[in-house]
Amino acid sequence: MPPPSAAADPEAFIRAHTAPGPVPLRPDIILWQATEITPIWHATADWLEHHAVPPPFWAFPWAGGQAISRLIADEPSLVAGKRVVDFAAGSGLIAIAAAKAGAAQVTALDIDPFAGAATLLNAALNKVRVRTLVADMIGQKLPGTDIILAGDVCYEQAFAEAALAWFRDLARAGITVLVGDPGRAYLPSQGLCRLASYDVPTSLELEDRDVRHTDVWRVPMD
Ligand SMILES: C[S@@+](CC[C@H](N)C(=O)[O-])C[C@H]1O[C@@H](n2cnc3c(N)ncnc32)[C@H](O)[C@@H]1O
Repeated sequence: MPPPSAAADPEAFIRAHTAPGPVPLRPDIILWQATEITPIWHATADWLEHHAVPPPFWAFPWAGGQAISRLIADEPSLVAGKRVVDFAAGSGLIAIAAAKAGAAQVTALDIDPFAGAATLLNAALNKVRVRTLVADMIGQKLPGTDIILAGDVCYEQAFAEAALAWFRDLARAGITVLVGDPGRAYLPSQGLCRLASYDVPTSLELEDRDVRHTDVWRVPMD
């Protein structure tokens, strides 16, 4: 008999394999996170496949997301009263930061159902309201959106290229688009405007260092 699929109950899987902890650059935000003491940290790709779980991007506050969430705390007017989309939301960190800063409406968008479940758990932990959308919206119009915030999306070539091309279209349509990135391989080398920079504490096990210099970029409207 095959093992029960974790995909059947993402919320139970998240509760069993992560623990609530603060985000280093936003310690006022608590997320369900993988830690050294939870088994998911040591899980191999085989184990994840065996349990029908996609790679647990949602179990970590990535450097790009931390930087954008810090910028939102420093400059809440970026999102206050606005309709915000957290693209590639993972844990929902940016969505939660936007809700805390007074966004009128927040949607956390990700293709991974575990990210959707983690975002709802994390929003509850932080006592904010966030809507989730599990879908691939790249290339689609996003009516009713004022600002898109994308943390750490330049780690894989096809995804980064498609996302950046879409961001440029959305920016031309009048939507503000910000990208948080710690110098990943597929961040475009030109054509973006730097808004802010932070030294972001990260996990040595996850990255190859314990601090990553991370920029927040604006995708120009022209
Ligand atoms: C490195 S994680 C970043 C998570 C979060 N933004 C942060 O900074 O902590 C990248 C996320 O992109 C999501 N993703 C990948 N392809 C996507 C797509 N086409 N549309 C939406 N999300 C996508 C993954 O599921 C994953 O949650």
